[in-house]
Amino acid sequence: MQSVAAVAENTAFDVARRRADFPILGKRVYDKPLVFLDSAASAQKPQSVIDAVNHCYTREYANIHRGVYWLSVRATEAYEGARVKVQRFLNAASEREIVFTKSTTEAINLVATSHGAAALNAGDEIILSQLEHHANIVPWQLLRQRIGIDIKVAPIDAQGNFLLEEFEKLLSPRTRLVAVTHTSNALGTITPVDEIIRMAHAEGALVLLDGAQSVVHGPVDVQALDVDFFAFSGHKLYGPSGIGVLYGKADLLSAMPPYQGGGDMIRRVTFEKTEFADIPSRFEAGTPHIAGAYGLSAAIDYVSAIGMDAIAAHESELLEYATQRLQEINSLRLIGTADDKAGIVSFELDGVHAHDIGTILDREGIAVRVGHHCAQPLMDHFGITGTVRASFGLYTDKSDIDALVQALGAVREIFD
Ligand code: ALA
Repeated sequence: MQSVAAVAENTAFDVARRRADFPILGKRVYDKPLVFLDSAASAQKPQSVIDAVNHCYTREYANIHRGVYWLSVRATEAYEGARVKVQRFLNAASEREIVFTKSTTEAINLVATSHGAAALNAGDEIILSQLEHHANIVPWQLLRQRIGIDIKVAPIDAQGNFLLEEFEKLLSPRTRLVAVTHTSNALGTITPVDEIIRMAHAEGALVLLDGAQSVVHGPVDVQALDVDFFAFSGHKLYGPSGIGVLYGKADLLSAMPPYQGGGDMIRRVTFEKTEFADIPSRFEAGTPHIAGAYGLSAAIDYVSAIGMDAIAAHESELLEYATQRLQEINSLRLIGTADDKAGIVSFELDGVHAHDIGTILDREGIAVRVGHHCAQPLMDHFGITGTVRASFGLYTDKSDIDALVQALGAVREIFD
């Protein structure tokens, strides 16, 4: 992934053209143009994704893997085609390594529940980081309650940088798994995953990356990373909500028991016992989000046509611009100024509650997220209860940032 420093001037990226692909960006709220700066929570959808979901329901919808008739066969081909699309997007070795889930959260819960129960024992250690979203904390705490693992937390510094040397000190022969974010949703910190994975593997530990934010902000190659598990959500990648992905190395997934039981994950069922299907079906009990797979496939086509490197370069340019402009505002404190960051800025304004800022910005048509961003331990680290977070997508323009800075100036005047 590219940092601000590494990115050269990006003149080729045509934001106006990209914005025209997203119908919602033409909307006015409170009779003001929408300024959407909450893509880290969920990204808006291009017309091609909306069309793909519509196409599924109007032309090809039926349940998959179950019907011998045309519609079902067609929908099954599209669903499995989406799996291959994800495999190529992540450069996984096989489509068998791609499990569809409903979200990043479900993907992490799947690993914690299934791999955790099968491969971890009381006294084994896992390492998280201070940057984690609750989705990469709570499932491990639930596992701790069930089997008695120990959880250690890799620290960060005052800028939000992941501290590799401190992390290395936590590794021991008892470390079985390292589960860390690839990019912090609250601060934008990009973690040094190459080194994390190398160090963890040297100690015999597996690595799970929460890729919910990273997969959106730049190219991801799971084979080059040599990561063991990687989780992401469709809705942050300009696709539908309700569909997510767990990538797992085939040998690891094959050794894992089912996460949920039901239809489509079995080979043979009797009342005495059940023989389970191979991966990935073993982890996809019940009717999945079929139209979601159509939409995710279209989203991957969309970002791939633009190019993940070009998207990363555009967002890095925005980050640099936003970081400079926000510092013009009196008593604004940026929270999270790590050396390597994705297109996310978190900040607080002295003497003004984040929720008040969010509400005032909303009346100007500006959508940001305020609060703890599902990362309360991270907020505790900074001694705050929350921040205002502006997060960028491929359709974000410098004029969005100008609108934010202008509205924050007005907030500052109200509270001065
Ligand atoms: N994880 C999402 C966010 O950061 C919801 O806002």
